[in-house]
Formats: sequence, C-alpha cells, structure tokens
Amino acid sequence: MTALLRAEGLTRHYTVSQGWFQPKATVRALEGVSFELQAGRTLAVVGESGCGKSTLARALTLIETPTAGRLFIQGQDVAGPRSRDQRQALRRQVQMVFQNPYAALNPRKTIAATLAEPLVINTRLTAAERRERVEALAQQVGLRPEHLRRYPHMFSGGQRQRIAIARAMMLQPGIVVADEPTSALDLSIQAQILNLFMDLQERHGTGYVFISHNLSVVEHVADEVMVMYLGRVVEQGPRERLFAQPLHPYTQALISATPSLRAADRRVRIPIHGELPSPLRPPSGCAFHQRCPRAVARCAEVRPELRTVEGRLVACDVL
Ligand SMILES: Nc1ncnc2c1ncn2[C@@H]1O[C@H](COP(=O)(O)OP(=O)(O)OP(=O)(O)O)[C@@H](O)[C@H]1O
Ligand SMILES: [Mg+2]
Repeated sequence: MTALLRAEGLTRHYTVSQGWFQPKATVRALEGVSFELQAGRTLAVVGESGCGKSTLARALTLIETPTAGRLFIQGQDVAGPRSRDQRQALRRQVQMVFQNPYAALNPRKTIAATLAEPLVINTRLTAAERRERVEALAQQVGLRPEHLRRYPHMFSGGQRQRIAIARAMMLQPGIVVADEPTSALDLSIQAQILNLFMDLQERHGTGYVFISHNLSVVEHVADEVMVMYLGRVVEQGPRERLFAQPLHPYTQALISATPSLRAADRRVRIPIHGELPSPLRPPSGCAFHQRCPRAVARCAEVRPELRTVEGRLVACDVL
C-alpha cells in the first residue's frame, strides 16, 4: 500500500547570523528524519523544546522547503516538477492545526466565513453547497448552528480549537499535521479535543502527525511514536513497545518524568542532567551523551546510527 506520507532523510538547516563580524552559523534544526504514515494512523512526535518538532511540521506542510531529503504525498514526490494545479492539489492534501487557537482565527470573520474560506479558494462549490459542508463539519466538531454567525472573540479556547480543526478538515485532507494542538488549553478541555481528533480520524480516515511534548497525550493518540533530540530521531516505533519498554536513555527519562506514565516497576525517576545543548554547537558523538546516565567514553566520539532493536529503531550504542 502506498503510504499517505513518506519522508526520507528529511533535513532542514537554518543559517543564522551571530552578530557583526562573526561568521554565519548553521542550525541543524532537522537532520535525516524518515518515516511512513498510513491512512487512519497517527504518528506522534515528541521531544524537548527546540528539538525540531515545528521545523518538521513546516516541512511536512510544504510551508518550508527541506535542505535535503525527500517527501512523498500519496507516493508523489513533492519536489518533483509539476504544474501549479498539481502543486495546489498536493498542498490541499496536508493541512495544519496550530498550538494557539487565539491567533489562528481571523477576528473580523464570522465562523461561517472562516470555515467556508478554504472552499471558496480551492473549490468550485456553489454557495449552497459550501453552506451545507460548513454546517456538516461544524456539527461534527460539536458547534451549534447559531455559532456559525458569531465571531472568534465570542468563543473559549477549546471552542476556537474546534473551529480551527473544522477549518483544517474542510478540504477533506488526507493528512493533518497538528503542532501542540492542546497545549494552550485547560486540562479538562484537552481530553475533549483529543477525543474530537480521534473521532474525526475514524470518520474520515485522516492520517495525523501529532506533535506534543506531553507524553500522556501521545500515549492517548499515537500508533507510532518518534522521539527527537536536537533535530534527530533517537527512538521510533510502535507506541505499545515504546511505552512498555523504552530503550533509548532519553526516551526512558522522558517517560519516567511523566508521573501518569510511571508504572510500578519504573517508579524511579531517571534524571536528565543539565540543559539542552545549543543546536549551534551540538555535542560530538551522541548529542545526548553529556546528559545521559549511561554514557561511556565512546559516546562522546561516535554518533550512533538508528538501528533495529526489539521491534523499533533506536540510536544508542550502549544497549
Ligand atoms: N527560521 C529559523 N531560523 C533560525 N533558526 C530556527 C528557525 N526556526 C527554528 N529554528 C531553530 O531550530 C531549532 C528547532 O526549532 P523548532 O521550532 O522546530 O523546535 P520545537 O521542537 O518545535 O520547539 P518547541 O517545543 O519550543 O515548539 C531551534 O534551535 C530553533 O531555534
Ligand atoms: Mg514548536
């Protein structure tokens, strides 16, 4: 089966200025990320702030062009030469939901107009057909008909995120990339929004790339999990395996730091020492070695490649 979304060695570097008379530096925000996503499945991406999650999201949604690597949407290479129409059709396949529902909606537009906008731009539906689609999707995300005439400021954060999700789903995309979609919401609302995501996935068969730093959220929604550290994948595999028996010391530390996930047999909290290193000057060898409780001398010298261990990929040579 052709994967809905396939990344091969996706890489994104940024050139940044370090000040007057200083040489320019390179931030390796994303380095060699590969995965496949099937319809109706969820790939979760986790890792500390600055590890490259949003950079990956921007590459997947074609907002930014990767520095290297390839990206295929339904088997089509997005970098391949093609007409404007074909490009637009590919873009429509991937939609994004952002973290901040307060900034994501145009304050001057009614909800009905906001939801209809993608249809106006991308389809030739009549006004009546558009209204029908808007109403159907509004209902699916739990909005009432009278909500459609209102403006964004009249809604709570959770309701706004529902509206943003409805808008992302408007063109029936195959893939939705959600970047921390529940982090700005109250805990009680978070669960509702996660359930809404899963409900819509079941209904439409959408593939999700779900970005979160919160592992309890990830455990709730993910089929596959990708753990990132300083732009690289350190562990990647099926959710059950990863959570039942994380292998990379960084994954172990992340899981042990999430109280709700600490099973009886791993009650011990594994400390991560020190700060995340600067991506401008990543450590030699394994980027995690300075903070790793299991590091040995060679970890500072040789960067471990991803390899298959117990049904998942892991980049650690000290297993
Ligand atoms: N446009 C840019 N120019 C220069 N550096 C950038 C740019 N965008 C991101 N970066 C750098 O790339 C790295 C990855 O950033 P990114 O936003 O992808 O992290 P993140 O995992 O989404 O973090 P967070 O959890 O805080 O959202 C960071 O070091 C960031 O400073
Ligand atoms: Mg981010």
